[in-house]
Amino acid sequence: MVEEVSTRSGAHLSVEGVTVQFGGLTALSDVGFEVRPGQVLGVIGPNGAGKTTLFNVVCGFTRPQQGRLTLDGQVFRPAPQRLVRSGVSRSLQGLGLFPGLSVLENIVAGGGSAARTGWWSGLLALPRTDRDERRLHERAGALVDELGLGAYAHAQPGTLPYAVSKRVALARALVSEPRLLLLDEPAGGLGHDEVLELGELITSLPSRGAGCSVMLVEHHVDLVMQVCDELVVLDFGRVIATGVPEVVREDPAVAEAYLGAEVDAS
Ligand SMILES: Nc1ncnc2c1ncn2[C@@H]1O[C@H](COP(=O)(O)OP(=O)(O)OP(=O)(O)O)[C@@H](O)[C@H]1O
Ligand SMILES: [Mg+2]
Repeated sequence: MVEEVSTRSGAHLSVEGVTVQFGGLTALSDVGFEVRPGQVLGVIGPNGAGKTTLFNVVCGFTRPQQGRLTLDGQVFRPAPQRLVRSGVSRSLQGLGLFPGLSVLENIVAGGGSAARTGWWSGLLALPRTDRDERRLHERAGALVDELGLGAYAHAQPGTLPYAVSKRVALARALVSEPRLLLLDEPAGGLGHDEVLELGELITSLPSRGAGCSVMLVEHHVDLVMQVCDELVVLDFGRVIATGVPEVVREDPAVAEAYLGAEVDAS
């Protein structure tokens, strides 16, 4: 494989041997895969396969009983409140927008409370906080424009059309300029054209900021096939296939997992 220029690459996440049990139920069993720098990796699988559980492990909401994560080669023990500082950002299956804040304020809130201030800024007595704060507001304003949210900037989340709320949630995840973005079902509830737009946006993510890798957990198979460089397929908590979309699409084990789910659901 040709090495990419490392200045614009995104983070490298490695998930190794992750097992999660809820009581007697094994939600994830020895799950391993990598999100390589600048890659859009899709995690798919039928209902109950373990996708959200896996997402929660990477966000730090769920501690696995076994296994470990590394981020850029360092052991990574994610904690939800420290994610942004680790260069990781997420948008959740639900929207999770703050009801008392405007759209713009919600996006700014995605920058975290201490917007990239470091101990050294205090040491050097630089007016770092103000400057960071100003940059954060500039980035939030730029995202409002980029994602077509200008007409809603001062609106309350409760008044927004659903597809617009989804874009706000995405803008909030992007404002911290993450090096790894975690998306849980971003296409859920969107119409056909909105999914196409979302697909274009996701495809553009790796070249944002200093570079961004993406882990996309998604039900919408067409979207995943369109935007992902590589797929991990889960079924009953196990990885049953990994590879480029064209190959995974033809994998009999994958077809069987989805077919079984459809038959079960009928
Ligand atoms: N907190 C929990 N306590 C007990 N069981 C859980 C918990 N969270 C998930 N499970 C179970 O773990 C399994 C995996 O669930 P998970 O939500 O990760 O699947 P999923 O692939 O995201 O499904 P969906 O496509 O419906 O979103 C399911 O059997 C689920 O019932
Ligand atoms: Mg889920």
